[in-house]
Amino acid sequence: MSKPIQAKYKVLENVRIAEGYYKITLEAPYIVRNYLPTQFVNIKVGTGYEYLLRKPFSIYEAMDHTISIVYRVIGKGTRRLAEYQKGEFLDIVAPVGKGVQVKNIKAKKMAFIAGGCGIASLKELAGHVAKKFDLFYGVESRNQIVELEKWRKLANKIFVATDDGSEGYKGFVTDLFKEKVLQYDAVYCCGPKVMMRKIYELFPQNSYFIFEEYMACGIGVCMGCVIKTKEGYKRICKDGPLFKGEEIVW
Ligand SMILES: Cc1cc2nc3c(=O)[nH]c(=O)nc-3n(C[C@H](O)[C@H](O)[C@H](O)COP(=O)(O)OP(=O)(O)OC[C@H]3O[C@@H](n4cnc5c(N)ncnc54)[C@H](O)[C@@H]3O)c2cc1C
Ligand code: FES
Repeated sequence: MSKPIQAKYKVLENVRIAEGYYKITLEAPYIVRNYLPTQFVNIKVGTGYEYLLRKPFSIYEAMDHTISIVYRVIGKGTRRLAEYQKGEFLDIVAPVGKGVQVKNIKAKKMAFIAGGCGIASLKELAGHVAKKFDLFYGVESRNQIVELEKWRKLANKIFVATDDGSEGYKGFVTDLFKEKVLQYDAVYCCGPKVMMRKIYELFPQNSYFIFEEYMACGIGVCMGCVIKTKEGYKRICKDGPLFKGEEIVW
């Protein structure tokens, strides 16, 4: 596994793709050559004290010499990120985290389950196991659905749940999954913790979860991102962000 390096990467595009969601594309050949699915990047979005801590984002897509990140604007850092223009440079440490060796995935029929911006953390892995999974995707409203046309090319079936019923099933994505739980031999999930816990309860064996907690150093030094596991505390940034559900003390 390659060590993370700090470098400046050129912005090629930064566009709004859904309500509150943006996609930024960067020229990043080093990351493309060296990342593993579920690894992430740590971005310094600005200068000065208020932007001291880097912000972690999953690699959404990697192709040729570019990577894309899909992000939801929720606070100061992501608002600043949305201001970046084509031709500007971002200071990034990457690739970070453990990553998945795709050849070790033996499951034949998987469920990928995303809540909100959790979709961004599952996409790159999904590209490596195309047509071996169904997607369960929960959002508040249809305006927040991100690039479903791309997922149609990757997933066998797609089940959408919205809080307001504007698309697909009205209600929680966990309820949609509950109906079909017996069909799968593995689960990959990213979303709010409460949703992930529910998925774990429904599918305790062979389920994997990407945790998107707060981070400080982002490189395994400060213990600011720990999660309680059956073997003690582990660092999401160094030992994760993907963990097997059975490892976690939920
Ligand atoms: C490994 C990893 C991968 C991630 N990948 C993505 C991604 O691909 N796309 C994406 O949109 N986001 C992703 N995130 C989350 C992203 O890092 C945060 O949304 C971002 O740092 C928020 O920065 P901000 O300055 O805009 O918000 P802040 O000003 O820091 O926070 C704004 C509000 O959001 C809440 N908040 C902020 N961060 C989190 C968090 N991690 N968990 C729960 N609540 C939070 C705060 O409580 C606050 O209310 C990832 C996080 C991790 C750890
Ligand atoms: S953020 Fe410092 S150890 Fe993970």
